[in-house]
Amino acid sequence: MVTGANGGIGTAICRALAKEGYQVAALCRCPSRAEPWLEQEKAQGYNPHLVIADIKDQDGIFSAVSVVEAELGAINLVVNNAGITRDKTLKRMQEDDWLEVIQTNLTGAYHLCRAVVPLMLERQYGRIVNISSINGEKGQMGQTNYAAAKAGLHGLTMSLAQEVASKGITVNTISPGYIATDMVMAVPEEIRQSIINQIPVGRLGEPSEIARIVTFLASPDAGFITGSNLSANGGQHMH
Ligand SMILES: NC(=O)c1ccc[n+]([C@@H]2O[C@H](COP(=O)([O-])OP(=O)(O)OC[C@H]3O[C@@H](n4cnc5c(N)ncnc54)[C@H](OP(=O)(O)O)[C@@H]3O)[C@@H](O)[C@H]2O)c1
Repeated sequence: MVTGANGGIGTAICRALAKEGYQVAALCRCPSRAEPWLEQEKAQGYNPHLVIADIKDQDGIFSAVSVVEAELGAINLVVNNAGITRDKTLKRMQEDDWLEVIQTNLTGAYHLCRAVVPLMLERQYGRIVNISSINGEKGQMGQTNYAAAKAGLHGLTMSLAQEVASKGITVNTISPGYIATDMVMAVPEEIRQSIINQIPVGRLGEPSEIARIVTFLASPDAGFITGSNLSANGGQHMH
């Protein structure tokens, strides 16, 4: 089950998992964006199973999980990828901007984990991958809300990993740097180049490079990796 499936990185994750033979439940919040996305994916030869729910809505997420388990079978992998930004300096940030980002990027992951972990515990197997950000590791001006949520997400990863490690369940974080999604490619060329200048490998990351990490962490071979934070940022932040 992949959240934010119709976004730039989410699409790459769904495709990579499908290529590995997974049946993908694609959780999207908005039918008017999700349905054209589904058509586009089908035209490309993929067949994700669309589930509409808002990650902020705990009841909606619990029913989405029940529907997916009934229609597709056991959810053995969750990728908490849905995320938003509402960038402003703290001085200008309204409580709505704060709450919307925390509830989507952090509480949303709690909702899905809360629904799925008891099922994984019963089955003694599971893989959870949380998509954080370089800015949760290093902070970023104008992103107190986003950086707090993304740093909090790795706190969730480390704590949950300890709770479920002995039951065959791993929980890991991926922290991407700047990735060439539509959002980043829409930034004016000059600003994009100034971002690239801060990346030692000299380019943006590709969504497929994040997806490849997901498929690795999801695989049975990655069973000894849990509670980790895998940074994929072209060397922009080392710690
Ligand atoms: N792109 C980067 O450079 C970068 C770098 C570091 C980390 N990340 C993280 O990677 C993840 C994916 O980013 P992206 O670049 O692919 O962004 P994106 O294209 O904007 O995709 C975000 C996805 O999250 C969904 N979403 C937002 N709020 C939701 C909610 N309340 N319930 C369910 N789904 C919701 C969006 O749905 P709608 O289409 O309906 O809005 C969209 O599908 C995010 O967590 C982001 O913070 C991205």
